[in-house]
Amino acid sequence: MKPQMILTVFIMSALAVFTAENTFSAGALKQFGDHMGRSHHALLYKRQSCDSCHENSEPTAFPADFVCLDCHDEVELVQATARPEEEKWQNPHNNMHYGKDVPCMECHGEHRESELLCAGCHSFDYPDFKK
Ligand code: HEC
Ligand code: HEC
Ligand code: HEC
Ligand code: HEC
Repeated sequence: MKPQMILTVFIMSALAVFTAENTFSAGALKQFGDHMGRSHHALLYKRQSCDSCHENSEPTAFPADFVCLDCHDEVELVQATARPEEEKWQNPHNNMHYGKDVPCMECHGEHRESELLCAGCHSFDYPDFKK
């Protein structure tokens, strides 16, 4: 984990002790004030820190492509979703077409439902993918 991530996770776990907020279902779309966001990013909305993903606190457009990697480590991602040898290149984070150079927002939505890029052409099974 990267230092920024460790700190965020630490604060989130500390917070969970004091609130009932940890009963949300992982990854679900949830209403935070005026905005929909992901329950796993709850702390970012609690602080109204839109700028943890966007370049400013009053965003009007998509964040930069690489912003997710400020907190999520590429090597850990590839490991987390590794598949058996015969399905190796179905790993969403190290796949046949993009290698590790994966465009996060082509599959993961933040304020909207996620849509898996690969599903347009393949029927690979990703049981842990959160719509
Ligand atoms: C400021 C830090 C930060 C940024 C930026 C960030 N995340 Fe997260 N993310 C977290 C934390 C903290 C968690 C909860 C801990 C965990 O599950 O790893 C999380 C959880 C997740 C999860 C659920 C993980 C699981 O175990 O199922 C996904 C998927 C995710 N983030 C995707 C993204 C994507 C895509 C982006 C870019 C649009 C992004 N994150 C940007 C901090 C961040
Ligand atoms: C091709 C589609 C695709 C792209 C692009 C993609 N992901 Fe994922 N991601 C997935 C799928 C599918 C899963 C669930 C894996 C499963 O079910 O085996 C996942 C799971 C995750 C998780 C949870 C991993 C865990 O610990 O279980 C995180 C965090 C995450 N993605 C972040 C990212 C980030 C950050 C990027 C950009 C660098 C990214 N993803 C790019 C499809 C994608
Ligand atoms: C965890 C990262 C993250 C955080 C925090 C975040 N956003 Fe976003 N935002 C995204 C992503 C990813 C997109 C691309 C569209 C999508 O996936 O929903 C986006 C897109 C947007 C857009 C463009 C929408 C469009 O359709 O053109 C706006 C506006 C926006 N966000 C506003 C906000 C506001 C306001 C906040 C704070 C309350 C916020 N965002 C917090 C990740 C984030
Ligand atoms: C626009 C259509 C399209 C999309 C989207 C797409 N692929 Fe493919 N993919 C193909 C074609 C065409 C082939 C080569 C012919 C074949 O094997 O079906 C292929 C082959 C593959 C193969 C090797 C053959 C196999 O079936 O095992 C893998 C693995 C693969 N793709 C993974 C992915 C993953 C993971 C994604 C999502 C990031 C993805 N593809 C997105 C069209 C696509």
